[in-house]
Amino acid sequence: MILATVQPFQKSAGSDVNFGATVSNVDIEELSDANFYILQNALFEHQVLVFRNQAHVSPKAQFELTQRLDPKAAGTYGHGTSLNAKLSVLHPDLKTIPHQPQVQVIGNGFVDEFEGLKNFQLRHPHHRTFHATAIPDEDDLVATRFYRWHIDAALYGLAPPVATTLLAVRVPGGRSQVIRYDDGTGDELTVPLGTTVFASGYSMYDILSAEDKEFVRTTKVEYAPHPYIWMSSARSRPDGLGLYSEGKELPPSDLPPIEEDKIQILPMCWVNPVTGRLALQVHPSAVRKLHLKDGTVLEDLEKVRALIHKLQRPGISPNMVYAHDWEEGDLVLFHNRGVLHSVVGAFAEDEVRIFRQCNIAASHFPVGPSDQITAA
Ligand SMILES: [Fe+2]
Repeated sequence: MILATVQPFQKSAGSDVNFGATVSNVDIEELSDANFYILQNALFEHQVLVFRNQAHVSPKAQFELTQRLDPKAAGTYGHGTSLNAKLSVLHPDLKTIPHQPQVQVIGNGFVDEFEGLKNFQLRHPHHRTFHATAIPDEDDLVATRFYRWHIDAALYGLAPPVATTLLAVRVPGGRSQVIRYDDGTGDELTVPLGTTVFASGYSMYDILSAEDKEFVRTTKVEYAPHPYIWMSSARSRPDGLGLYSEGKELPPSDLPPIEEDKIQILPMCWVNPVTGRLALQVHPSAVRKLHLKDGTVLEDLEKVRALIHKLQRPGISPNMVYAHDWEEGDLVLFHNRGVLHSVVGAFAEDEVRIFRQCNIAASHFPVGPSDQITAA
């Protein structure tokens, strides 16, 4: 039997990316138990796994791989049916595959037929629809932004998925773009068109000062109820790492009914189930309050966001970001509880891109450092 081989990414010059691996000699459509255990361990060790030449993988096999990483999960999509809410910021970006509803189609351009979906328009999210400011139109094909750094998670009711799979079916290529941080630092990063970028929550934690480490280990984050509807009128910082506070969030009266027991208060740091390392894992746009060690609850949204941004921003510096150069047939499996990621780029109208994405709401919530102490 041929066993999968795991090759950590080679570091490029100037890069401090210390995660990610390419997995070879494996067919996701016909995944043996032995190979599954290899890639499960590799996932928690390397956080982002790239499998080339997987164009033949069915939506069913994609779902089954995702489900197998959390076999007790009920098998519902990570956002449940909340995507259907017209006001949700996620609503325009995803189309559900009718015969495999945990798998979504994302991309750009007009598609005649794909997996039972007919004559539909995909729209690659453009930062001008979400950021407070935008790259000038004349630069739009050469320069871009991180659209929105995030974890794939409903953050209300359903537990954050353990892993997400992305399969590149059709990839327009051939040019690169420069990501501008536009935050006064002058930071820029040249990336392939339509890349997906990843930043490690472990590195984000590791590079903090001792004082900040203590703070993030002992603080919990309360997320807004119905966060993607709540944030729908608010606007993002230019680095895609959280929102400006201009009072634009929807009031509870404009949200669907709020069930208090679905509101999530999660540790700021999540423990890796295999390595025991701590990842600073916060969805910066969905944060509402902070619960401090001494029991104080920090409710001032502007202050909460400023704090989170200060903690996370070093971890998305150009030297810390992995930008995947998509080829058709690439399947990327990432540890959604160990990395943050973002869509990037601006396509022309006729640049057709088709991806399939799958994640499922987890069977359990992430464990924080203090949960471990309590359990010991
Ligand atoms: Fe995502």
